[in-house]
Amino acid sequence: MKALRVYEFGTPDLAVLEDVAIGDPGARQVAVRVEAAGVNPLDLKILAGSMQPVFPVSMPYTLGTDIAGVVEAVGPEVDRFKPGDRVVGRLDPTAGGGFAEYAVIAAQSLCPIPEDMSQEQAAALPTGAGTAWLALFGVGQVRAGQRVLIHAAAGGVGSFAVQFAKQAGAHVIATASSKNHPLVRELGADEVLDYRHEDFAKRLQDLDMVLDTVGGETLERSWQVVRPGGTLVSTVDPGVQARGDIQARFVFFKHDAVLLNTILQVFQARQLQVVLDTVHPLDDARAALEQVASGHARGKVIIRASR
Ligand SMILES: NC(=O)c1ccc[n+]([C@@H]2O[C@H](COP(=O)([O-])OP(=O)(O)OC[C@H]3O[C@@H](n4cnc5c(N)ncnc54)[C@H](OP(=O)(O)O)[C@@H]3O)[C@@H](O)[C@H]2O)c1
Repeated sequence: MKALRVYEFGTPDLAVLEDVAIGDPGARQVAVRVEAAGVNPLDLKILAGSMQPVFPVSMPYTLGTDIAGVVEAVGPEVDRFKPGDRVVGRLDPTAGGGFAEYAVIAAQSLCPIPEDMSQEQAAALPTGAGTAWLALFGVGQVRAGQRVLIHAAAGGVGSFAVQFAKQAGAHVIATASSKNHPLVRELGADEVLDYRHEDFAKRLQDLDMVLDTVGGETLERSWQVVRPGGTLVSTVDPGVQARGDIQARFVFFKHDAVLLNTILQVFQARQLQVVLDTVHPLDDARAALEQVASGHARGKVIIRASR
């Protein structure tokens, strides 16, 4: 099978598509014929070597964590899935293996894909939607009536966070560049600010929560807009700490099939739009990595296995 591998840390140009052996599933594992894989900034951080303290990988490493596909074979202790089932899940980042024609994954990491969901839509969910949910309802505690600012609202995490916060009854304020304002409003934002041309810190104050998915000076200015007793949640800065009476929390996303299943149910209830940017063939997977590396993906970038 073909797999996108790297032999050293660096940039997307180091990734090579190679023929490698298809793995056999262990007792509690499932071999999945990958149809679509979602690309995340995490893939690029692993590739750069900057995630080694958290997700230590060894070389050669096959990139990719978020996969959707069809069950090819199951281990002897797996009874929840059978060959032919459509499934979605997230591989352990330390193991990787998603940008390939086949992947071996723990059965407990998988969920069935609803009938009316495409493989590309499913592959978009695990990390992006899971992180958005965890940030809002696990790490943060968004409730109806609260005023919430979501940065990078057109991105892989933000496009889901806007929808979840709106569904929870929050007043949602979002940042995005102007070309993405119609999209972000359609997802449910009540107000959208163009971060390129206006300073949100001068326009906003007394918010209950800020979800920072950008870091740097965006995170720094975000302190100014949170009310005393409010919360700043960051997906980017692990060192974020409370200041005065403003709470601060870092989100560390850990995949959980129960959470993914909850998100799939939101989709089945027709309350979740999955925003897909470009779908790249596996043969051109480097272009998918480069698109995410640009920092301006619109929703999720997907790699489609090209058998
Ligand atoms: N800690 C965790 O467990 C965890 C989990 C998931 C993600 N993350 C991290 O969270 C970050 C975001 O992930 P993602 O998947 O959402 O990234 P992404 O999809 O690559 O984000 C792209 C979006 O960012 C927007 N953007 C870029 N600069 C911006 C700025 N200064 N202000 C507002 N929006 C800006 C772009 O909007 P325009 O095109 O309109 O400019 C684009 O839509 C990454 O660093 C990722 O590694 C962490």
